[in-house]
Amino acid sequence: MGLGAVGPGCAGMGPQRLLWFLLPTAAFLGLLFLSSLRLQVQLSACVWGGRPCGWLGGRGETPPPVQGRKPPLLSRLSGSRLPLPRHGTPAPAQAPRCPGQAFQISRLLAAFRACVTPDGEILLGEYLAGWKELIKLIDALGAAFGLLAQETQTKMEILQGHRAGPHAPHYRTLQAMVAFELQRGLVGLRVLPPDWPPSGCRTLLRLHRALKWLELFLGKLSHSGPEEDPSQLCAVAYQAALAPYHSWWVRQAAGLAFLALPSRRELYGLVCAEGEREARAMLLDAVGIIARVYNVTQRVYATRGLLELP
Ligand SMILES: *[C@@H]1O[C@H](CO)[C@@H](O)[C@H](O)[C@H]1NC(C)=O
Repeated sequence: MGLGAVGPGCAGMGPQRLLWFLLPTAAFLGLLFLSSLRLQVQLSACVWGGRPCGWLGGRGETPPPVQGRKPPLLSRLSGSRLPLPRHGTPAPAQAPRCPGQAFQISRLLAAFRACVTPDGEILLGEYLAGWKELIKLIDALGAAFGLLAQETQTKMEILQGHRAGPHAPHYRTLQAMVAFELQRGLVGLRVLPPDWPPSGCRTLLRLHRALKWLELFLGKLSHSGPEEDPSQLCAVAYQAALAPYHSWWVRQAAGLAFLALPSRRELYGLVCAEGEREARAMLLDAVGIIARVYNVTQRVYATRGLLELP
Protein backbone atom coordinates (compact mmCIF):
# COMPACT_ATOMS: atom_id res chain seq x y z
CA MET A 1 0.00 0.00 0.00
CA GLY A 2 1.69 3.12 -1.18
CA LEU A 3 0.56 6.67 -0.92
CA GLY A 4 -1.43 6.31 -4.05
CA ALA A 5 -3.71 3.66 -2.59
CA VAL A 6 -6.80 5.65 -1.97
CA GLY A 7 -10.09 3.96 -1.26
CA PRO A 8 -12.28 2.95 -4.17
CA GLY A 9 -14.82 5.60 -3.28
CA CYS A 10 -12.31 8.34 -3.84
CA ALA A 11 -10.70 6.88 -6.90
CA GLY A 12 -13.02 8.76 -9.22
CA MET A 13 -12.88 11.96 -7.21
CA GLY A 14 -10.09 13.63 -9.14
CA PRO A 15 -9.66 17.34 -8.77
CA GLN A 16 -11.96 17.88 -11.72
CA ARG A 17 -14.78 15.84 -10.27
CA LEU A 18 -14.37 17.46 -6.92
CA LEU A 19 -14.65 20.82 -8.57
CA TRP A 20 -17.87 19.83 -10.27
CA PHE A 21 -19.23 18.79 -6.95
CA LEU A 22 -18.07 21.81 -5.02
CA LEU A 23 -18.98 24.51 -7.47
CA PRO A 24 -22.72 23.89 -7.54
CA THR A 25 -22.80 23.48 -3.80
CA ALA A 26 -20.91 26.67 -3.23
CA ALA A 27 -23.03 28.53 -5.75
CA PHE A 28 -26.21 27.20 -4.20
CA LEU A 29 -25.20 28.23 -0.71
CA GLY A 30 -24.08 31.59 -2.00
CA LEU A 31 -27.40 32.19 -3.66
CA LEU A 32 -29.26 31.10 -0.58
CA PHE A 33 -27.19 33.51 1.45
CA LEU A 34 -27.86 36.37 -0.93
CA SER A 35 -31.57 35.83 -1.04
CA SER A 36 -31.77 35.43 2.69
CA LEU A 37 -30.12 38.79 3.03
CA ARG A 38 -32.83 40.09 0.72
CA LEU A 39 -30.16 41.35 -1.59
CA GLN A 40 -30.70 41.20 -5.24
CA VAL A 41 -29.34 38.05 -6.71
CA GLN A 42 -26.74 39.87 -8.69
CA LEU A 43 -24.44 38.18 -11.11
CA SER A 44 -23.73 35.37 -8.70
CA ALA A 45 -25.13 32.85 -11.12
CA CYS A 46 -22.77 34.04 -13.82
CA VAL A 47 -19.46 34.10 -12.02
CA TRP A 48 -18.40 30.57 -12.80
CA GLY A 49 -19.44 29.85 -16.33
CA GLY A 50 -18.27 33.04 -17.96
CA ARG A 51 -21.02 32.59 -20.49
CA PRO A 52 -24.07 34.77 -20.83
CA CYS A 53 -26.44 33.56 -18.21
CA GLY A 54 -28.84 36.29 -17.26
CA TRP A 55 -32.55 35.72 -16.95
CA LEU A 56 -33.12 37.13 -20.37
CA GLY A 57 -29.85 36.05 -21.93
CA GLY A 58 -27.61 38.12 -24.09
CA ARG A 59 -23.98 39.06 -24.18
CA GLY A 60 -22.82 41.67 -21.80
CA GLU A 61 -26.22 43.18 -21.52
CA THR A 62 -26.65 42.63 -17.88
CA PRO A 63 -26.09 46.09 -16.54
CA PRO A 64 -23.03 46.53 -14.36
CA PRO A 65 -23.82 47.25 -10.74
CA VAL A 66 -24.56 50.91 -11.16
CA GLN A 67 -23.67 53.22 -8.36
CA GLY A 68 -26.32 55.62 -7.43
CA ARG A 69 -29.17 53.64 -8.89
CA LYS A 70 -31.29 52.94 -5.88
CA PRO A 71 -32.67 49.44 -5.52
CA PRO A 72 -35.95 50.03 -7.25
CA LEU A 73 -39.08 49.81 -5.22
CA LEU A 74 -38.11 46.50 -3.78
CA SER A 75 -38.33 46.82 -0.07
CA ARG A 76 -41.30 49.09 -0.20
CA LEU A 77 -43.44 46.54 -1.96
CA SER A 78 -42.30 43.14 -0.97
CA GLY A 79 -43.17 41.13 2.01
CA SER A 80 -46.24 41.37 4.14
CA ARG A 81 -46.58 45.10 3.74
CA LEU A 82 -48.34 44.71 0.43
CA PRO A 83 -51.74 46.31 0.36
CA LEU A 84 -54.37 43.65 0.71
CA PRO A 85 -57.68 43.62 -1.09
CA ARG A 86 -59.92 46.10 0.59
CA HIS A 87 -63.51 45.55 1.41
CA GLY A 88 -65.85 48.32 2.39
CA THR A 89 -66.05 51.71 0.78
CA PRO A 90 -65.49 51.48 -2.96
CA ALA A 91 -62.78 53.69 -4.37
CA PRO A 92 -63.69 56.38 -6.89
CA ALA A 93 -63.72 54.84 -10.34
CA GLN A 94 -60.84 56.77 -11.90
CA ALA A 95 -58.46 57.38 -9.03
CA PRO A 96 -55.69 54.84 -8.57
CA ARG A 97 -56.91 52.26 -6.08
CA CYS A 98 -53.71 52.00 -4.10
CA PRO A 99 -52.19 55.44 -4.52
CA GLY A 100 -49.03 54.50 -2.66
CA GLN A 101 -48.28 51.51 -4.83
CA ALA A 102 -45.93 51.67 -7.80
CA PHE A 103 -47.62 48.95 -9.86
CA GLN A 104 -50.98 50.03 -11.25
CA ILE A 105 -52.79 47.37 -13.22
CA SER A 106 -54.92 50.05 -14.92
CA ARG A 107 -51.80 51.44 -16.60
CA LEU A 108 -50.77 47.95 -17.66
CA LEU A 109 -54.17 47.29 -19.20
CA ALA A 110 -54.28 50.65 -20.96
CA ALA A 111 -50.82 50.30 -22.49
CA PHE A 112 -51.16 46.74 -23.76
CA ARG A 113 -54.69 47.39 -24.96
CA ALA A 114 -53.51 50.34 -27.05
CA CYS A 115 -50.48 48.37 -28.22
CA VAL A 116 -52.15 46.51 -31.09
CA THR A 117 -53.56 48.71 -33.85
CA PRO A 118 -56.68 47.72 -35.80
CA ASP A 119 -54.31 46.60 -38.57
CA GLY A 120 -52.55 44.27 -36.20
CA GLU A 121 -49.41 46.33 -35.82
CA ILE A 122 -47.57 46.40 -32.51
CA LEU A 123 -46.83 49.95 -31.38
CA LEU A 124 -43.45 49.83 -29.69
CA GLY A 125 -44.10 52.89 -27.55
CA GLU A 126 -47.12 51.25 -25.96
CA TYR A 127 -45.33 47.92 -25.74
CA LEU A 128 -42.58 49.52 -23.70
CA ALA A 129 -45.09 51.43 -21.60
CA GLY A 130 -46.72 48.11 -20.75
CA TRP A 131 -43.35 46.66 -19.85
CA LYS A 132 -42.60 49.63 -17.64
CA GLU A 133 -45.55 48.60 -15.55
CA LEU A 134 -44.58 44.93 -15.67
CA ILE A 135 -41.17 45.80 -14.24
CA LYS A 136 -42.91 47.30 -11.23
CA LEU A 137 -44.87 44.07 -10.91
CA ILE A 138 -41.67 42.02 -11.09
CA ASP A 139 -40.15 44.27 -8.44
CA ALA A 140 -43.11 43.61 -6.22
CA LEU A 141 -42.49 39.86 -6.51
CA GLY A 142 -39.59 40.22 -4.12
CA ALA A 143 -35.93 41.05 -3.85
CA ALA A 144 -34.86 37.82 -5.53
CA PHE A 145 -36.32 39.09 -8.80
CA GLY A 146 -34.11 42.16 -8.76
CA LEU A 147 -31.77 40.82 -11.43
CA LEU A 148 -34.65 40.10 -13.77
CA ALA A 149 -36.05 43.58 -13.20
CA GLN A 150 -32.66 45.11 -13.99
CA GLU A 151 -32.20 43.05 -17.13
CA THR A 152 -35.64 43.96 -18.31
CA GLN A 153 -34.82 47.59 -17.72
CA THR A 154 -31.67 47.24 -19.82
CA LYS A 155 -33.57 45.66 -22.71
CA MET A 156 -36.06 48.48 -22.59
CA GLU A 157 -33.28 51.04 -22.63
CA ILE A 158 -31.75 49.42 -25.73
CA LEU A 159 -35.08 49.63 -27.52
CA GLN A 160 -35.64 53.18 -26.35
CA GLY A 161 -32.18 54.02 -27.66
CA HIS A 162 -33.17 52.71 -31.10
CA ARG A 163 -36.41 54.65 -30.92
CA ALA A 164 -34.55 57.87 -30.16
CA GLY A 165 -31.72 57.19 -32.60
CA PRO A 166 -31.09 58.22 -36.18
CA HIS A 167 -33.48 55.54 -37.50
CA ALA A 168 -36.29 56.41 -35.13
CA PRO A 169 -39.04 56.29 -37.79
CA HIS A 170 -38.29 52.58 -38.32
CA TYR A 171 -38.87 51.85 -34.66
CA ARG A 172 -42.45 53.00 -34.36
CA THR A 173 -43.93 49.54 -34.81
CA LEU A 174 -42.62 46.03 -34.39
CA GLN A 175 -43.32 45.23 -38.01
CA ALA A 176 -41.37 48.23 -39.24
CA MET A 177 -38.46 47.44 -36.95
CA VAL A 178 -38.23 43.84 -38.12
CA ALA A 179 -38.42 44.84 -41.78
CA PHE A 180 -35.79 47.54 -41.34
CA GLU A 181 -33.29 45.50 -39.39
CA LEU A 182 -33.59 42.49 -41.69
CA GLN A 183 -33.19 44.62 -44.78
CA ARG A 184 -30.12 46.34 -43.37
CA GLY A 185 -28.65 43.04 -42.18
CA LEU A 186 -28.54 44.24 -38.61
CA VAL A 187 -29.97 41.16 -37.02
CA GLY A 188 -27.15 38.61 -36.81
CA LEU A 189 -29.26 35.58 -37.66
CA ARG A 190 -26.87 32.80 -36.68
CA VAL A 191 -24.17 34.26 -34.52
CA LEU A 192 -24.01 37.49 -32.72
CA PRO A 193 -21.04 39.50 -33.99
CA PRO A 194 -19.29 40.64 -30.84
CA ASP A 195 -18.93 44.27 -31.81
CA TRP A 196 -22.49 44.86 -32.96
CA PRO A 197 -24.93 46.78 -30.88
CA PRO A 198 -27.81 44.53 -29.85
CA SER A 199 -30.45 44.62 -32.54
CA GLY A 200 -33.99 45.62 -31.71
CA CYS A 201 -35.21 42.23 -32.95
CA ARG A 202 -33.19 40.13 -30.58
CA THR A 203 -33.66 42.52 -27.68
CA LEU A 204 -37.41 42.46 -28.04
CA LEU A 205 -37.38 38.67 -28.41
CA ARG A 206 -36.01 38.44 -24.85
CA LEU A 207 -38.83 40.58 -23.55
CA HIS A 208 -41.25 38.56 -25.62
CA ARG A 209 -40.22 35.28 -23.97
CA ALA A 210 -40.46 36.82 -20.52
CA LEU A 211 -43.90 38.12 -21.43
CA LYS A 212 -45.04 34.55 -22.01
CA TRP A 213 -43.83 33.61 -18.55
CA LEU A 214 -45.81 36.45 -16.97
CA GLU A 215 -48.86 35.63 -19.06
CA LEU A 216 -48.77 32.02 -17.92
CA PHE A 217 -48.06 32.91 -14.31
CA LEU A 218 -50.83 35.48 -14.06
CA GLY A 219 -53.18 33.08 -15.85
CA LYS A 220 -52.44 30.32 -13.38
CA LEU A 221 -52.76 32.75 -10.49
CA SER A 222 -56.15 33.94 -11.62
CA HIS A 223 -57.44 30.38 -11.95
CA SER A 224 -55.91 29.21 -8.69
CA GLY A 225 -57.73 28.26 -5.53
CA PRO A 226 -56.83 29.66 -2.11
CA GLU A 227 -54.84 26.55 -1.24
CA GLU A 228 -52.51 26.80 -4.21
CA ASP A 229 -48.95 27.97 -3.81
CA PRO A 230 -47.78 30.80 -6.10
CA SER A 231 -44.22 29.45 -5.99
CA GLN A 232 -45.44 26.29 -7.65
CA LEU A 233 -47.53 28.14 -10.22
CA CYS A 234 -44.66 30.44 -11.04
CA ALA A 235 -42.23 27.55 -11.39
CA VAL A 236 -44.55 25.71 -13.79
CA ALA A 237 -44.97 28.86 -15.89
CA TYR A 238 -41.20 29.31 -15.90
CA GLN A 239 -40.59 25.72 -16.98
CA ALA A 240 -42.89 26.20 -19.94
CA ALA A 241 -41.82 29.66 -21.04
CA LEU A 242 -38.27 30.50 -20.03
CA ALA A 243 -36.36 27.54 -18.67
CA PRO A 244 -35.60 26.09 -22.13
CA TYR A 245 -33.54 29.19 -22.89
CA HIS A 246 -31.65 29.27 -19.62
CA SER A 247 -28.42 27.80 -18.38
CA TRP A 248 -28.33 25.51 -15.39
CA TRP A 249 -27.15 28.36 -13.18
CA VAL A 250 -29.99 30.65 -14.01
CA ARG A 251 -32.54 27.90 -13.53
CA GLN A 252 -31.22 27.33 -10.01
CA ALA A 253 -31.35 31.04 -9.20
CA ALA A 254 -34.86 31.22 -10.61
CA GLY A 255 -35.97 28.26 -8.52
CA LEU A 256 -34.78 30.03 -5.41
CA ALA A 257 -36.47 33.25 -6.40
CA PHE A 258 -39.80 31.44 -6.75
CA LEU A 259 -39.54 30.09 -3.22
CA ALA A 260 -39.43 33.66 -1.93
CA LEU A 261 -42.61 34.77 -3.73
CA PRO A 262 -45.25 36.60 -1.71
CA SER A 263 -48.37 34.70 -0.74
CA ARG A 264 -51.31 34.36 -3.09
CA ARG A 265 -53.27 36.80 -0.97
CA GLU A 266 -50.53 39.38 -1.23
CA LEU A 267 -50.24 38.89 -4.98
CA TYR A 268 -53.98 39.37 -5.40
CA GLY A 269 -53.57 42.50 -3.31
CA LEU A 270 -51.31 44.01 -5.98
CA VAL A 271 -54.34 44.35 -8.22
CA CYS A 272 -56.05 46.56 -5.63
CA ALA A 273 -59.50 45.24 -6.32
CA GLU A 274 -62.53 45.04 -4.06
CA GLY A 275 -62.15 41.50 -2.95
CA GLU A 276 -60.99 38.36 -4.66
CA ARG A 277 -63.68 38.05 -7.30
CA GLU A 278 -62.88 41.42 -8.81
CA ALA A 279 -59.14 40.84 -8.49
CA ARG A 280 -59.52 37.59 -10.40
CA ALA A 281 -61.51 39.33 -13.14
CA MET A 282 -58.88 42.03 -13.51
CA LEU A 283 -56.10 39.49 -13.65
CA LEU A 284 -57.95 37.54 -16.33
CA ASP A 285 -58.45 40.76 -18.24
CA ALA A 286 -54.72 41.45 -18.11
CA VAL A 287 -53.90 37.91 -19.18
CA GLY A 288 -56.19 38.16 -22.21
CA ILE A 289 -54.69 41.48 -23.28
CA ILE A 290 -51.13 40.28 -22.80
CA ALA A 291 -51.90 37.09 -24.71
CA ARG A 292 -53.15 39.09 -27.66
CA VAL A 293 -49.98 41.17 -27.78
CA TYR A 294 -47.88 38.04 -27.34
CA ASN A 295 -49.70 36.20 -30.13
CA VAL A 296 -49.29 39.00 -32.64
CA THR A 297 -45.59 39.36 -31.80
CA GLN A 298 -45.11 35.62 -31.99
CA ARG A 299 -46.65 35.53 -35.46
CA VAL A 300 -44.35 38.31 -36.69
CA TYR A 301 -41.25 36.52 -35.41
CA ALA A 302 -42.40 33.13 -36.66
CA THR A 303 -43.16 34.30 -40.21
CA ARG A 304 -39.71 35.88 -40.41
CA GLY A 305 -38.00 32.84 -38.93
CA LEU A 306 -36.63 34.88 -36.04
CA LEU A 307 -37.80 32.89 -33.04
CA GLU A 308 -34.39 31.37 -32.35
CA LEU A 309 -32.22 34.47 -32.67
CA PRO A 310 -29.00 34.13 -30.71
C1 LIG B 1 -53.08 33.10 -28.49
O1 LIG B 1 -52.65 31.92 -29.11
C2 LIG B 1 -52.96 30.75 -28.40
C3 LIG B 1 -52.24 29.60 -29.05
O2 LIG B 1 -52.22 29.72 -30.44
C4 LIG B 1 -54.47 30.59 -28.37
O3 LIG B 1 -54.81 29.43 -27.68
C5 LIG B 1 -55.06 31.81 -27.67
O4 LIG B 1 -56.46 31.73 -27.69
C6 LIG B 1 -54.61 33.09 -28.32
N1 LIG B 1 -55.04 34.18 -27.49
C7 LIG B 1 -55.39 35.36 -27.95
C8 LIG B 1 -55.92 36.33 -26.95
O5 LIG B 1 -55.31 35.66 -29.12
